[in-house]
Amino acid sequence: MYKTKISGVGHYVPDNVVTNEDLSKIMDTNDAWITERTGIKERRFAGPADSPSSMGTKAALVALERAGIDKNEIDFIVFATLSPDYYFPGPGVLVQEQLGIKEVGALDVRNQCSGFVYGLSVADQFIKTGMYKNILLIGSELHSGGLDMTTRGRGVSVIFGDGAGAVVLSRANEGEEGILSTHMHSEGKYAEELALIAPNTARWVPTIMENNDPDDISYYPYMNGNFVFKHAVVRFAEVIQEALVANSKKIEDIDLLIPHQANLRISQFIQKKMALRDDQVYNNIMRYGNTTAASIPIAMSEAWEKGKLKRGDTVCLAAFGSGFTWASALLKF
Ligand code: ACO
Repeated sequence: MYKTKISGVGHYVPDNVVTNEDLSKIMDTNDAWITERTGIKERRFAGPADSPSSMGTKAALVALERAGIDKNEIDFIVFATLSPDYYFPGPGVLVQEQLGIKEVGALDVRNQCSGFVYGLSVADQFIKTGMYKNILLIGSELHSGGLDMTTRGRGVSVIFGDGAGAVVLSRANEGEEGILSTHMHSEGKYAEELALIAPNTARWVPTIMENNDPDDISYYPYMNGNFVFKHAVVRFAEVIQEALVANSKKIEDIDLLIPHQANLRISQFIQKKMALRDDQVYNNIMRYGNTTAASIPIAMSEAWEKGKLKRGDTVCLAAFGSGFTWASALLKF
């Protein structure tokens, strides 16, 4: 078996900064409520030229450059998102086209906030077995176009932002370390506690239009916020612990925990519960909001730029989200 290392990290966020103050001009909300409940101060909203695939491609090009790997050396693409360019096909194929590379396989991962860690696990298996040498893993989201930006939707829409992150995963050289283990879980009985229900195969667009019900908001994301919070804090802690136990490591062995940026209160709760120091946890939700599958790779790339994520560090990635799904990865960066 080979080992998988992260050879490069990159991210792209749109230029358009939307502050809490900006949101308070279009819905009944305010900076104090958003800051106190979520820690978010601002987020980025995509412009007309941005799409989930184009943002992903931009992040990928940065990751490739930092990895020192030519795009033509990519053997496979994994794209994690809940906001694809099209209902189908998924955005992985669009990245293949936008990069202008040979006809490599492109896999789309639909695991929402856990999508990046699920994608990491999938890519790790392909590299470990020797099937592929270099895999491009992207997490990208364009939420802003699909949120209810009226007061009705404020409990959800103030939380989310747009952006993309990418990593290049490569076969590690002899003696090098990399991904130590990955762990994935799901609990489908809570599928509708955090979901975007329609359109779906039982409730297709013509049905929604035919009923023409102004209160039908099934095509907007729904979140049972309190319920999600309570499950998130339990599952985050569990899955981090699971990764540590699997590798006979302790909390103090973690140099950096990069949690999915769901909500600053969730990250702070986990940090306290697990007795992690401030310098052991990386958060940037204040600046980008919750970017779902993109949040971990954006945070990794930003932490790397700031020198907070260093070669040789023991890093734990952890995520929880819609499904419910949750996942973790422990790695030597
Ligand atoms: N601005 C002002 N007031 C608001 C807003 C807003 N944006 N949104 C809701 N309110 C009001 C509500 O209408 C309600 O008013 P009422 O008391 O008059 O009825 C009041 O604020 C409290 O609403 P709650 O929904 O009970 O607020 P809560 O304290 O639960 O906070 C929140 C909501 C922040 C979503 C919280 O439940 C939470 O943090 N949940 C975790 C879920 C999460 O972070 N998800 C992120 C995405 S999922 C993921 O990535 C895992």
